[in-house]
Amino acid sequence: MEDVSDPPFRHVCKQHGADLMYSEFISSEGLIRDAIKSRRKLDFYEYERPFGIQVFGGDEEAMAMSAKIIGTTNPDLVDINFGCPVKKVVCKGAGAAVLKDVALMTRLTSAVVKGTNLPVTVKTRLGWDDSSRNIEEVAERLQDAGISALTIHGRTRAQLYKGEADWTLIAKVKNNPRIRIPIFGNGDIDSPDKALEYRNRYGVDGIMIGRAAIGYPWIFNEIKHFLETGGYLPPPSIEQRAGAIRQHLHRSVEWKGAVVGILEMRRHYTNYLKGFPYIKEFRNQLVQKDTVAEIEEVLLQVEERYAGFLPERVRAGFPPSSDPVSDETATLSEQAAENCAW
Ligand SMILES: Cc1cc2nc3c(=O)[nH]c(=O)nc-3n(C[C@H](O)[C@H](O)[C@H](O)COP(=O)(O)O)c2cc1C
Repeated sequence: MEDVSDPPFRHVCKQHGADLMYSEFISSEGLIRDAIKSRRKLDFYEYERPFGIQVFGGDEEAMAMSAKIIGTTNPDLVDINFGCPVKKVVCKGAGAAVLKDVALMTRLTSAVVKGTNLPVTVKTRLGWDDSSRNIEEVAERLQDAGISALTIHGRTRAQLYKGEADWTLIAKVKNNPRIRIPIFGNGDIDSPDKALEYRNRYGVDGIMIGRAAIGYPWIFNEIKHFLETGGYLPPPSIEQRAGAIRQHLHRSVEWKGAVVGILEMRRHYTNYLKGFPYIKEFRNQLVQKDTVAEIEEVLLQVEERYAGFLPERVRAGFPPSSDPVSDETATLSEQAAENCAW
């Protein structure tokens, strides 16, 4: 996830059971121009494997060349983004715009497949809008172009992040006898129960988790444990939550330097501390502190104040449509939908 899935975030996700992770998405044009922001997104640690690097673009040559550049960093997978709904990306004929031109999509995919020896996966949506939900055709064409797996977000481009994800078409793709590649479902999975229900009902080969992992990396192990045993893991204690914040913060500072690292951590506190009564007062303090030592001090107070308190299991990254949406995650989703960079 752009502006979220950087190495510090991925570190906490890996610690808590994420099986396969992807980079933030990277512009093929940016990679070729050697833009610093794009280059930096290629970096990952060995412990993150299996790890995929995601690229987007609308030009075959640029996509082929960026696949070669990605190959030099030796990830496990190259992933193509055909799902980004943002105007600036879509207007350049990239991201979800490619859903409107299946022939172009096939050519872009072939270019990437030919440009690398690594397995290529694709992440996309159901279609451009309600009147053009063409994922069934898209899946067949992408498989023919040589991809190794397909992740489908159960919304159209027109929906952005609104409404509920519709997994029925994902199931149709999965049940198509022509489809041999693994199909991963994505959209709105935020609890072990929902993961089990959707896996059983829609028969997907894997589930991709996005927003629910923001501030709640425990979601990965909770789901895996539930799928394996039918039981629930105990929810993270306040010490474990503060511990995850510390890890995320330290990695963030190490990765981005103190000023940016501390600043960019501010968007995560609300989600990490969701469900604790009157937490706002502490949250406000955390987002005003400028040094790691001061933040550590507030975290100690938080641990002391909430010792032994276990909040009810609340939806981690974002609540069901009937609940109030987490401000921080809603903002991130809106930024993802509007932000020119993605
Ligand atoms: C802040 C944010 C950034 C995102 N960035 C990307 C991205 O770079 N590449 C991508 O394929 N999807 C991206 N997405 C979409 C998610 O991967 C996912 O498809 C979507 O959020 C639905 O899944 P969820 O309900 O589990 O969050 C982003 C979503 C959010 C909220």
